[in-house]
Amino acid sequence: MADRIRVALFFGGRSSEHAISCATAGGVLGAMDPERYDVVLVGITHDGAMTLRAHDEVAAFSLDELPELSDNGTRVRLPESAVTRELTVEFTAETDGTVRSLGQVDVAFPILHGPFGEDGTIQGAFELVGLPYVGNGVLASALGMDKHVTKTMLEGAGIAVAPWATVTRNDLARHPDLWRRRIEGLGLPAFVKPARAGSSVGVSRVTDWAQLDAALETAFAEDSRVLVEQGVAGRELECAVLEGRDGEPPRVSVAGEIAITGREFYDFDAKYRGAEGVELICPADLGEQELGRMQAIAARAFEAIGGSGLARVDFFFTGAEFVVNEINTMPGFTPISMFPSCWLASGMSYPELIDELIALGRAAVR
Ligand SMILES: Nc1ncnc2c1ncn2[C@@H]1O[C@H](COP(=O)(O)OP(=O)(O)O)[C@@H](O)[C@H]1O
Ligand SMILES: [Mg+2]
Repeated sequence: MADRIRVALFFGGRSSEHAISCATAGGVLGAMDPERYDVVLVGITHDGAMTLRAHDEVAAFSLDELPELSDNGTRVRLPESAVTRELTVEFTAETDGTVRSLGQVDVAFPILHGPFGEDGTIQGAFELVGLPYVGNGVLASALGMDKHVTKTMLEGAGIAVAPWATVTRNDLARHPDLWRRRIEGLGLPAFVKPARAGSSVGVSRVTDWAQLDAALETAFAEDSRVLVEQGVAGRELECAVLEGRDGEPPRVSVAGEIAITGREFYDFDAKYRGAEGVELICPADLGEQELGRMQAIAARAFEAIGGSGLARVDFFFTGAEFVVNEINTMPGFTPISMFPSCWLASGMSYPELIDELIALGRAAVR
């Protein structure tokens, strides 16, 4: 089986989405055909240690138990230069202190969400040693992570985004009246959110300006820059994007919908704690012409950030206009997540999707 593809799967990580990433790794591993793939499992702990994990351990991960990777005394090392793709593992002093080869790998597959995984940092580490990898490159990952920069790029590409203002604590301290005016000019309801976070962490809906200071504090706890955004009344729809093969244009799935009934917005509890009042529907009920418009915007947004591999583009649909909320460069990827569900509804199964992403990663020219 010399022609099996060797894939190094990176999961876990330092961000608050560690457990989600581990659950995704379990799903991805389970869907990878062992006849085709030989998988090296690199679990990144909360402290950022790259550890070698066993197949059985990872295959058992699921969202129900919110897995956490403990330090098992191993350290996986990236290739030592760009002339080799050999990974090694060091068994630390507490174990036996030896270093062993893990062999050459063909491609790295980082299924990490949030800071230190989805933001261009690990992608930069792969670039440094010339290791091919799945998904977005350094720049697209970094700017997709930052809501202010993403919106600025999209606006520049002529894509509608919700009006917003971005502030730091210093801005507010130096020119309080100016910023107060700009923020209140956005109208109510408003959404206050950290520039770089995810999973709705630090996001508040403000319906009265008396709530603004508390909402700003909640967001500043997550990031030094905070967006205040005009609330958009409309449906929340998402499209999954895959890079085109051989220079073809991006491929865009049918739309999925986050149908919110009993809640104010799509918050953390609805995303991960299975709280009531939110339903994921795929495909969304949308006319052919509307879907076509949405898909064209999703493809343009992907190209505007210089995307490669994959992305999920999130929209509000007002009934007249498609407003882009954000782009996720490593969207939730468990077998029941929106990204694979959208592809399944478009005719591509979960294992096929993984094959496709790996093929794109091996061929990527970024
Ligand atoms: N401008 C807005 N108008 C209406 N709802 C919003 C707006 N911004 C955020 N929301 C709601 O808050 C949720 C989380 O905000 P989002 O910007 O997507 O952050 P995250 O990166 O954490 O997913 C959205 O899914 C949506 O329900
Ligand atoms: Mg979101």
